[in-house]
Amino acid sequence: EVVIEEFLTGEEASFFVLTDGAMIVPIGTAQDHKRVGDGDTGPNTGGMGAYSPAPVLSPMLQGEVIERIIAPTVKTLAEDGTPYSGVLYCGLMLTGEGPKLIEYNCRFGDPECQVLMPRFEGDLGEYMLACAESRLSALRPPPLSDDTVLTVVMAAKGYPGTPEKGGAIRGIEEAEQAGAKIFHAGTGLDADGQLIATGGRVLNVTARGANVREAQDAAYRAIDLLDFPTGFCRRDIGWREVAREGDG
Ligand code: GLY
Repeated sequence: EVVIEEFLTGEEASFFVLTDGAMIVPIGTAQDHKRVGDGDTGPNTGGMGAYSPAPVLSPMLQGEVIERIIAPTVKTLAEDGTPYSGVLYCGLMLTGEGPKLIEYNCRFGDPECQVLMPRFEGDLGEYMLACAESRLSALRPPPLSDDTVLTVVMAAKGYPGTPEKGGAIRGIEEAEQAGAKIFHAGTGLDADGQLIATGGRVLNVTARGANVREAQDAAYRAIDLLDFPTGFCRRDIGWREVAREGDG
């Protein structure tokens, strides 16, 4: 048996919707950075940073993705007697022939969730309950902030191989006072109550702005206030969009 697969080229972007098995409600777009090193070099990781929205996934393309990809999936699952309700994360390749689906995830994604949630201005619980109770159509589309939110992952040295555990982390309060929100992913307290790294991806330093450049500046200002000698991060999260913004 020979399997011939199409090699897709283009830019990757993610589109998130909620569905109750019939209704489909968009809740944002994002772009992730999978490689460990600046300039998208080095081994793949679970994600070294992300931002939302992803302007490359325009409202027109979102409409096309719903119509050509998501709606047929949701409809077929329901017709097959296996209706799906909840969050659908569509990993897309934006090719010259239009958006193509690479994968679906039945979850928010990490670090995508960290940039989607600050832009979600409704009551997420209300929308999730409506998904579970098949009454999404009774709710207004959730309000999403126009701000850009960007998160930078601080990882422990060695990641995505064997990360160095136990490294002390200081300066969280200072970084948050500078305007960032820091989500803890792989942290713990040692016997003296000192915050330490306990995993590969350790912190998500998250900031917002009017565009990617502003959000990126704010996130790296906060990172520079952290004292985490055994940690590292990429310094170019959002580079594609910053370059496009620079082009005017
Ligand atoms: N960041 C990719 C994922 O959560 O699958």
